[in-house]
Amino acid sequence: MLPRGTLLIPALLFTGAAIAGSTTSDPSSALRSPDSFAGIADRTERSRAMFDEMARVIQHPRCLNCHPATREPLQRDLERHQPAVSMDKQSRALECQTCHHEHNTPTFAGGIASIPGAHGWKLAPASMSWVGKSRREICQALKDPAKNGKRDLAAIHEHMAQDHLVGWAWHPGGTLGPAPGTQASFGALVQAWIDTGAACPAA
Ligand code: HEC
Ligand code: HEC
Repeated sequence: MLPRGTLLIPALLFTGAAIAGSTTSDPSSALRSPDSFAGIADRTERSRAMFDEMARVIQHPRCLNCHPATREPLQRDLERHQPAVSMDKQSRALECQTCHHEHNTPTFAGGIASIPGAHGWKLAPASMSWVGKSRREICQALKDPAKNGKRDLAAIHEHMAQDHLVGWAWHPGGTLGPAPGTQASFGALVQAWIDTGAACPAA
């Protein structure tokens, strides 16, 4: 048995979440497996359908908040980051890692259940802005070495399947809802998309 006092901690966190307004999404939402697309006979159509499923992760707020349209990160459901920070010149000195540490940090501050954290927390470069873009535009940018950090498809897969900032999206802490599925099931889908020609959706 735990000492009785420890039961207060989740209760306090829950109160905080209620004040903050929960952004938790359905934790049971799984990703479709590559096999479940076998019914689509045309290889390119199958690949496109897999990208649409991948986009459920890529366009999830846990990813988009670090891949915004401007040089300012977003938070929760694509809301303005509080406090205001920008990678533009004037507040560049306010490094992300002043507040974002190596791990998620629970807090008892009013309305904030946890400060997200992972090693090397930072904003994605401007060429990797995804907010406001169509799935087709995101797909094309993802494959473009001039925009994607000079990655080939194998390196894209490795980043999606292994990178720890990507992985954070399934363990966001506090009251934040995770991305659908798991990083492993997402990685399998990315590999199957590549194996079928890495086609982009029409829109
Ligand atoms: C904490 C911020 C952060 C989060 C959260 C984050 N990213 Fe990124 N992402 C970055 C940074 C920074 C880079 C640039 C890294 C580099 O080029 O080495 C990047 C680069 C990438 C790239 C490679 C570039 C490209 O356009 O192909 C992919 C793919 C990617 N992220 C996918 C994701 C996905 C999918 C998620 C959510 C599951 C996610 N990211 C969540 C910060 C983040
Ligand atoms: C002065 C402290 C501070 C600084 C500096 C800071 N952040 Fe934050 N950030 C926070 C806090 C606190 C939260 C949690 C807000 C909440 O959920 O209530 C947060 C949340 C976020 C989130 C939201 C995660 C999600 O999916 O909801 C992202 C993304 C983020 N910060 C990125 C950045 C980046 C990138 C930088 C550097 C350019 C940065 N932050 C600098 C304090 C800071």
